[in-house]
Amino acid sequence: MNIAEYFLKKGYLVNSGFNVEGAYFFDDENVFSEELVLENIGEYKFDNIVVKEVEEKKIEVIENKEDKIVLDVDNNEKRNIKIVRCYREDSRKREVGDFVTLMKYKFEYLKNILLNREELQDTLSINKVLERKDREYVSIIGIVKEKRENKTGSFTLTLEDVTGEIRVLFKKDSEFFDDVKDIVLDEVIGVTGSKGDDIVFVNNFYIPDIPIYNELKKYDEEEYVVFTSDVHVGSNVFFEDNFKKFISWLNLEYGNEKQKEIAKKVKHVFIAGDLVEGIGIYPGQEKDLKTQDIYEQYEEFAKYVNSIRKDITVVLIAGNHDAVRLAEPQPVVDNKTAPSLYKNENVIFTTNPSVVNICAKDGFPGFNILLYHGYSFVYFSEEVESIRKNGRLDRCDLIMKFLLQRRHLAPSHGSNLYIPDSNNDNLIIDMIPDFFVSGHIHKVSATNYRGITLLNCGCWIDQTEYQEKQGMIPDPNRIMVANLQTRDIKILNFGD
Ligand SMILES: [Fe+2]
Repeated sequence: MNIAEYFLKKGYLVNSGFNVEGAYFFDDENVFSEELVLENIGEYKFDNIVVKEVEEKKIEVIENKEDKIVLDVDNNEKRNIKIVRCYREDSRKREVGDFVTLMKYKFEYLKNILLNREELQDTLSINKVLERKDREYVSIIGIVKEKRENKTGSFTLTLEDVTGEIRVLFKKDSEFFDDVKDIVLDEVIGVTGSKGDDIVFVNNFYIPDIPIYNELKKYDEEEYVVFTSDVHVGSNVFFEDNFKKFISWLNLEYGNEKQKEIAKKVKHVFIAGDLVEGIGIYPGQEKDLKTQDIYEQYEEFAKYVNSIRKDITVVLIAGNHDAVRLAEPQPVVDNKTAPSLYKNENVIFTTNPSVVNICAKDGFPGFNILLYHGYSFVYFSEEVESIRKNGRLDRCDLIMKFLLQRRHLAPSHGSNLYIPDSNNDNLIIDMIPDFFVSGHIHKVSATNYRGITLLNCGCWIDQTEYQEKQGMIPDPNRIMVANLQTRDIKILNFGD
């Protein structure tokens, strides 16, 4: 018996939107809810499901071992926050087959999004398209296996699905040709066109994208949420005094009256990774460290975070400098590494990436915040022509929009290091967020795409050697403050 069947049998409604993978629970009376799971879990042992108490009660997790599914059911009503997507580390040994399975999962998921489009209703598998007569109209959905620019300036792509592969030709004179230049390897696209001899002449193409009607949600109360990232505590170029000013502002001890009025209404602070500088992150890093010990770095970081006033909840994810594995999805920084943060019940750790919901109440679904540190951004700043030509890493807004349109945080193999799960791709953007929040490249940007606020959060350290080589000038000492009532974004600068 699975978990849904169990509750149906007990006479509870299971909402049609119920999705074990998505950890969607509903709190209305007699509707499947997380409380019900927790209440009943003691009396019935679900197949392959165990309840785990994470140390210090940070997050209660229900894990379906067989399906490698994580259900995070932390629901702290007082704090009005809920983790709706996260990753639970799986210690199983991975095999080559897992990468193939992951690719298939990603393809099927993104194909289903594309199949919502009317133009792709008659999509056939590639082996069937290959059997079609010349000049017949066909539509295909495939993963981009190869991309080649021809001498004439046109592009030939090889698309692949589980049944085979086919070449498709994009002529140079098409109206969407600039978009074709931006296509990257391993993304999933749909094309329509006419069949030629072993090739399809494309007349249109489609990407999964965000629905055009996605609304910009607004809250009926004046409340603010703060986003920042890349604190890098432990680095000898950490702007300690400025970071302290930021903490003092949250504690209503710094800033003018207007700024303090905003601080009073902050209930949540999100820090999007690279909490500390870490150790052994790049060759010769020792000379750039003020604090050589990783535990001390987290202790120091904890001192700042633990001094934040107690009605504010702080949500933390790891980045590539933190003491977790580099491969994505990245688990949480553990209790042994950062014990002082675990003792603070105002701090919530979640995985990179995650989706966290805040401010839900009767009649309002809350805001979904997609947190991703941003490791893949560097790759796409170079590989996507329109981003490369318009400012590379200075155009984080374009990078984030590009990824939302692909509905994946790292669509190309090679854009990040990753560990495959058998039944899930944690980097797929399945839930359409209200905020997409990142860091990593130390630049500040705020933009909007189809009702989604895209924020890159800057940093709290001076220019690193790596950035100097790239000619990149960071935007340190800033935070992003979102007014949930108006959805305006303010950038506060704590620098001199
Ligand atoms: Fe980073």
